[in-house]
Amino acid sequence: MTTQAQETVSPISQWYDMMTRMFPDKRLTFLNYGYLAEDSRFDWLSAEDLEQKCSTNLIRTLLGDADLRGLKVLEIGSGRGGNCSYLARYTDAASVTGLDFCPAHIELCERVHRLDGLSFVGGDAMALPFADEAFDVVINIESSHCYPDLNKFGEEVRRVLRQGGRFFYADTMKGANTRALSERDSIGVDFFSNVLDQHQAMIHHAGFRVEDHVDISQGVIRAFESEQGHLKHLLKSLVDEKKQHSDSLPPEVYHAFDTMFHFFDDSGIKAYRNGHLAYKFWRLSKAA
Ligand SMILES: C[S@@+](CC[C@H](N)C(=O)[O-])C[C@H]1O[C@@H](n2cnc3c(N)ncnc32)[C@H](O)[C@@H]1O
Repeated sequence: MTTQAQETVSPISQWYDMMTRMFPDKRLTFLNYGYLAEDSRFDWLSAEDLEQKCSTNLIRTLLGDADLRGLKVLEIGSGRGGNCSYLARYTDAASVTGLDFCPAHIELCERVHRLDGLSFVGGDAMALPFADEAFDVVINIESSHCYPDLNKFGEEVRRVLRQGGRFFYADTMKGANTRALSERDSIGVDFFSNVLDQHQAMIHHAGFRVEDHVDISQGVIRAFESEQGHLKHLLKSLVDEKKQHSDSLPPEVYHAFDTMFHFFDDSGIKAYRNGHLAYKFWRLSKAA
């Protein structure tokens, strides 16, 4: 961790750090909103991964028909390592590297995900500690909303990608609907300050070729509304376990989780439905 990285830490990544220290449970490996298509099936997923099937389905959908066999893959903002573990176990990539800003995430990943070819590195998305053209594929899922300088991030992704390499990019952002929200409907929604134009400006600035650009907000709503296999179910059970034990958490932490659960169950669903939020992904490449 460099001094530069510490200077750019955002309140959101401080929250992730605290959450990981609070919940070292190895079952919780994804930290994203997940995705469900109308006809999503899960016969490709092993039983051990069903508890987080919406998140596994998000990275699988983002990758589409990409063939990663024999390739060197980097995930930037790898969190608790769910995507990296998926990549190492399901894609036959030659190597998978996860990079994250949050030291607790790196410690957890090194303890929980021990697989051949998989490694984790602490570092900043805007100052990547890798040589030029070190990777064939870069993945970034639901992390860039924490970055203070999206253009710098784009420059760094381009630098570490080989010519012709691919960049799979997904995040949530403010949508086109800017009408004011009621107090209750705004709970959790104001976290996301970036707008579509900022992501597109970064893509243009870095000179990526856009192969595909998809709005998956409907699939994110479906995942929020699913009865199992979503981040919210696992988090709710972990918070309930804490409540039942003597190592209970301070009231402000329970309040923060209540806010998050309200977002998943109510305000987030409304916000994606009425266009206050949007969730997009891009399949990009580094053209020569
Ligand atoms: C919502 S989590 C997503 C984690 C993972 N991509 C997933 O899909 O489960 C966002 C992650 O981005 C990381 N992050 C935030 N700012 C970062 C930065 N400047 N550099 C690297 N990682 C960062 C956070 O620590 C957190 O682990």
